Amino acid sequence: MKMRVGMLAVLVLVGLLYAVKHHSKHESLVSDTQIGLRKAPLEDERDLRLHSYEYHKLPPGESKRFERAYENAPPMIPHDVTGLLPITKDNNQCLGCHMPDVASTVGATPVPKSHFFDFRHNRPAKEGSISDARFNCTQCHAPQANAKPLVKNNFKPVFSNKALEFRSDFMDVVDVGVKDLTKTKE
Ligand code: HEC
Ligand code: HEC
Repeated sequence: MKMRVGMLAVLVLVGLLYAVKHHSKHESLVSDTQIGLRKAPLEDERDLRLHSYEYHKLPPGESKRFERAYENAPPMIPHDVTGLLPITKDNNQCLGCHMPDVASTVGATPVPKSHFFDFRHNRPAKEGSISDARFNCTQCHAPQANAKPLVKNNFKPVFSNKALEFRSDFMDVVDVGVKDLTKTKE
């Protein structure tokens, strides 16, 4: 009898310990200050402080171009864009300097061939004009702020040649690896 009571007590004790351990595990679930890159609680923003950051202040013509993030990546905008945005239907100042016929005179990189091609219909865009899909430049090209990355990035781009660190050749290589069916019939 005594033995049974003793065994029962041990069982209850083990059960209790198990329950306590699991209970405390639940309490140590990740809190809302740990799940994101910001360490402030999600439900109370009173103590939230934004880090100060600045965009490049040098005007077009005085800034230094960034190396491309990877081969044929859209280049970052290296100059100030104050007064140039927003781009509207009737006012796209970016084109005023980046259209190929003016770009060289202001020292800007000309808009590449790909921007004059309508990929949706697989034909060149209307005579001399930029494809509608490329009109809103800042949809793909962004200025760079001096904010430190919150997560270290170990990505290192590999370029096929040195020139591609500052220039793209997208239209020349867009078909590489794709079989041209019109030419296989010979
Ligand atoms: C007054 C002329 C001018 C205007 C307007 C202008 N740019 Fe530029 N842009 C330049 C020049 C010049 C450079 C080369 C860097 C420099 O000298 O500042 C450049 C560089 C760039 C680059 C980097 C190109 C590369 O090869 O790395 C991008 C992207 C760019 N501009 C996008 C834009 C966009 C988008 C707009 C409109 C919001 C715009 N630019 C308006 C003159 C201009
Ligand atoms: C849909 C995304 C997209 C839009 C919109 C867009 N670009 Fe680009 N841009 C790219 C990509 C991707 C590249 C690099 C590959 C290439 O050359 O096509 C590029 C390359 C460039 C380059 C570098 C050319 C070179 O020879 O290295 C310039 C300058 C540029 N764009 C200017 C502009 C301007 C100005 C506009 C607005 C009129 C614009 N882009 C709109 C995606 C875009």
